[in-house]
Amino acid sequence: MRFLLDGAGKLVPCTHCAVVQKWQVRALDSFSSRQGTALTQTFFNFKTSFKGKANDLLATCLEAAEDFAHDPHEKWLIFWGDRGNGKSHLCAAVANHLVSVGTPVLFLTMPDLLAALKQTLDLQANTEQESYSGRMRSFKTAPVLILDDLGAESGSAWADGVMFEILDYRYRNRLPTMIATNVALDEFDPRVASRMQDKALATVIKNSAPDFRKRALSER
Ligand SMILES: Nc1ncnc2c1ncn2[C@@H]1O[C@H](COP(=O)(O)OP(=O)(O)O)[C@@H](O)[C@H]1O
Ligand SMILES: [Mg+2]
Repeated sequence: MRFLLDGAGKLVPCTHCAVVQKWQVRALDSFSSRQGTALTQTFFNFKTSFKGKANDLLATCLEAAEDFAHDPHEKWLIFWGDRGNGKSHLCAAVANHLVSVGTPVLFLTMPDLLAALKQTLDLQANTEQESYSGRMRSFKTAPVLILDDLGAESGSAWADGVMFEILDYRYRNRLPTMIATNVALDEFDPRVASRMQDKALATVIKNSAPDFRKRALSER
């Protein structure tokens, strides 16, 4: 029936049901980063050369993103580095690939995730999926979660708590998670930083390639 009775006798959507997983993703469509130019960003148009020369670092980033997209099971992939070097592009490419093979994926920035939660405090929720706990459940249990711009949020105690709750749940359940950030991992809450650096689960890649936007058009 796509629902389960929880311990308190309340009906909750069964998160293992593929139909429910697709609904949960669709319910958050307005906050998704999979729109506009992100829809055109793929592995094929991610360039691994710079100034006409092959760049090993960009090739490593592309390969790690492709590996994750082809088999995200029990993996975390984390890119960090300066702006403009393709972190969001690769997040979008992974999301686009997963959608193309029918895997439900939530792809959103951390500020948008927080906005989706805050909105539930202002609105009368009509469905479980529109409620705070329903959205939180979607973020925690999404078959694949891609969080862009982690650390770009205000850093309030509430935002830190949300980040920890989601990442801790996904860490404990080995759920596929991709993260892109401009912030060095050690600057995060130490509990989050240590989970992100668990080598048994997470691949962390520092992307120190230069800003693509500043490249001459002839070099792109
Ligand atoms: N290696 C690359 N190949 C092709 N386009 C790239 C590459 N790196 C960045 N871009 C493009 O440059 C712009 C900025 O990249 P983006 O992924 O948003 O950077 P970041 O998220 O790392 O700040 C985007 O339009 C993106 O498609
Ligand atoms: Mg970005």
